[in-house]
Amino acid sequence: MTHLLLEPSLLDSLAGKVAVLTGGATGIGRSTIQQLCKHGAKVAFGDVLEGPSRELESELSPNVHFVKCDASSYSDQLALFKSAHEKFGKVDIVVANAGISIRKDIFDPSEDITQEPSMKEIDINTKGAIFSARIGMYYLRQAGGGDLVLVSSIAGFKECGGLATYTASKHGVIGLMRGLHLTATPENIRVNVICPWMTRTRLVLGIEKGWYERALPVNEPDDVGRAILVCATANRGANGLTHKGARLPFAGKIVYVSGGESYEIEDGIQKLEPSWLGKENSQVLEKGQEYLASDSTSWDESKLS
Ligand SMILES: NC(=O)c1ccc[n+]([C@@H]2O[C@H](COP(=O)([O-])OP(=O)(O)OC[C@H]3O[C@@H](n4cnc5c(N)ncnc54)[C@H](O)[C@@H]3O)[C@@H](O)[C@H]2O)c1
Repeated sequence: MTHLLLEPSLLDSLAGKVAVLTGGATGIGRSTIQQLCKHGAKVAFGDVLEGPSRELESELSPNVHFVKCDASSYSDQLALFKSAHEKFGKVDIVVANAGISIRKDIFDPSEDITQEPSMKEIDINTKGAIFSARIGMYYLRQAGGGDLVLVSSIAGFKECGGLATYTASKHGVIGLMRGLHLTATPENIRVNVICPWMTRTRLVLGIEKGWYERALPVNEPDDVGRAILVCATANRGANGLTHKGARLPFAGKIVYVSGGESYEIEDGIQKLEPSWLGKENSQVLEKGQEYLASDSTSWDESKLS
């Protein structure tokens, strides 16, 4: 685990950069937009909520551009990125932040099994992030590379009773980072994922009271926005690769945010693999991974000569 601090000297590197973010009307997304703009970036963002989005757009005009966009719709996301590119000329940073949690537990024994349950958490949290990544990478490549920051959750790696579908959806977001970063990094696209613990937004209204009574740690949306900025700036130093205390390039990382502080945890998870998988299993797995990463093979058999 590495305690991460935002590197003040790297914040200047945001000047003139263009970010595209989903779910920017409220909470973490809204704070991230405000912080990006404060440091000279321009932001195009999508959301389904028009009122607070338009308000933010006029507050930060002309550096913020709002496009009504349902993150679970591929055509909406295509339109968001196209509009961002037309308005600001390029895309350097993509933040896949839009997310919901449905409090109603579809696994509750009293639930009517004949009624198909809502899969909106999968549609928005997982499919939406995959759509942002796919379309976003197309534009990042045009800029010669950039940063893709995905927003998962503590539920992305930990049990979360009563929120099974949300938990599955956020595990999927970590899966997206792990599935992408090896091939994206050589393209100069760094993929990282944020896992916030309890953050004071409308998403947590149901659990707030008991949480505060137990004096458990709380993040403000600004704290998570700062973690997103750490990922968006870590590789933008003078030599392109400087960040306090973390293995570089800063890619393929999981940033856990708790009590306002950010910690990188993926390096530790990977390093401890021989302990939890067994030394021999881990060695064999590494050989398989090396083969899969080599040019001599492809999952797409039509590409094999
Ligand atoms: N608050 C927490 O404790 C917490 C913890 C872990 C992860 N997260 C994640 O952080 C992200 C931001 O959540 P938040 O806490 O700021 O809550 P929030 O509800 O304030 O923000 C979510 C934003 O996403 C937007 N949104 C919802 N559905 C959308 C859709 N279909 N298309 C586009 N935008 C949509 C909402 O309108 C809102 O502006 C989410 O992905 C959430 O799962 C939050």
